[in-house]
Amino acid sequence: MMEFESAMNDKKKPILELENLSKVYRTKRSLFGDSGSDVIALNRISFKIFKREIFGLVGESGSGKTTAGRLIVRLEEPAEGKIYLEDVDLTSLKGKALRDFRRRVQMIFQDPYQSLNPQISVLNTVSEPLTVHKIGNGKARQDLVRQAMKSVGLSPPDDYLHRYPHQLSGGQRQRVAIARAMVLNPRFVVADEPTSMLDASISAQIFNILLEMREKLDLTILFITHSLAAARYLCDRIAVIYRGHMMEMGPAEAVIRNPKHPYTQALIDALPKFGDCGDIKHYGTLLRADSEAPEGAGCPFYPRCKVAHRAKCSTGMPRLKEISDSHLVACYYTIPGDETIPEGDACFYAT
Ligand SMILES: Nc1ncnc2c1ncn2[C@@H]1O[C@H](COP(=O)(O)OP(=O)(O)OP(=O)(O)O)[C@@H](O)[C@H]1O
Ligand SMILES: [Mg+2]
Repeated sequence: MMEFESAMNDKKKPILELENLSKVYRTKRSLFGDSGSDVIALNRISFKIFKREIFGLVGESGSGKTTAGRLIVRLEEPAEGKIYLEDVDLTSLKGKALRDFRRRVQMIFQDPYQSLNPQISVLNTVSEPLTVHKIGNGKARQDLVRQAMKSVGLSPPDDYLHRYPHQLSGGQRQRVAIARAMVLNPRFVVADEPTSMLDASISAQIFNILLEMREKLDLTILFITHSLAAARYLCDRIAVIYRGHMMEMGPAEAVIRNPKHPYTQALIDALPKFGDCGDIKHYGTLLRADSEAPEGAGCPFYPRCKVAHRAKCSTGMPRLKEISDSHLVACYYTIPGDETIPEGDACFYAT
């Protein structure tokens, strides 16, 4: 009984916690002498990811998804806020602790065409992290590489080991990038739009590899995507961000079948739908043309939002509030809705 309880507690323990995380990019002055401007890529974002969870970070282009991923793997430093990995403040890591962190946390990048060096063979690409972290040598290293390649479906590995990136398809390239991340047996992986360059059937295979990795390796994954459909397929929970602000967060099914934020509803409206979708409600929360937005601290979605009330939404930023079990929304006017998207696969949302 004690063991069961501690296993349950373990499952509910966050492996990663973001606390009021902000990132500001300062753009340089141009040749014409105008002063640089600040881009607030993330604005006080907080969430927790639990062990073995696949957590989706969803939002349109420029919403700050990659920035969040880069902060988590410490490719960038936050302007404000904290990130904890298993209760340890990442900014405090130095020396061996930082090297261990670099081994335990990996990132799979959006574009395998850019993330793989065209002049390095598959064998050297996948074994490089082992060299950097001084893990195994000679044959032991090659065995680990072969094992990682098999786990991402590059089988038999010897058919691929001596190829270069240009001798691989896009899907194979992304598999190599995943094998490179997995060869270190990480605890936590940030997968940044790993399938945005791939077609739907190859994307589905890559999703299944990630699901398998979670099962086999007890992995926790932050899955970054612009597609709610992909997030629905893969994720346990979803956070929807817009211009660096958290809009809605909750269990994947709740957010997708019963979205509460007008922005999430606009994302649902925008999904291409195939098959027998029945009578799906169109939320219609997106304005045809952006309204004029007064400068201020209002909701960032206000200029595009049909349900917004000028006096309130253009001046105040609503707090995230819990509207049902673990389902949080930051909107003054969440629209009550019934579950409008049918269960099951009758209606297929393309990724
Ligand atoms: N190095 C940088 N310097 C200046 N601004 C940046 C930098 N990196 C990102 N930004 C800005 O920060 C914002 C968030 O960018 P980010 O790349 O995180 O978005 P994203 O959600 O990953 O978008 P996409 O879906 O297109 O990949 C954007 O406005 C972007 O222009
Ligand atoms: Mg990105």
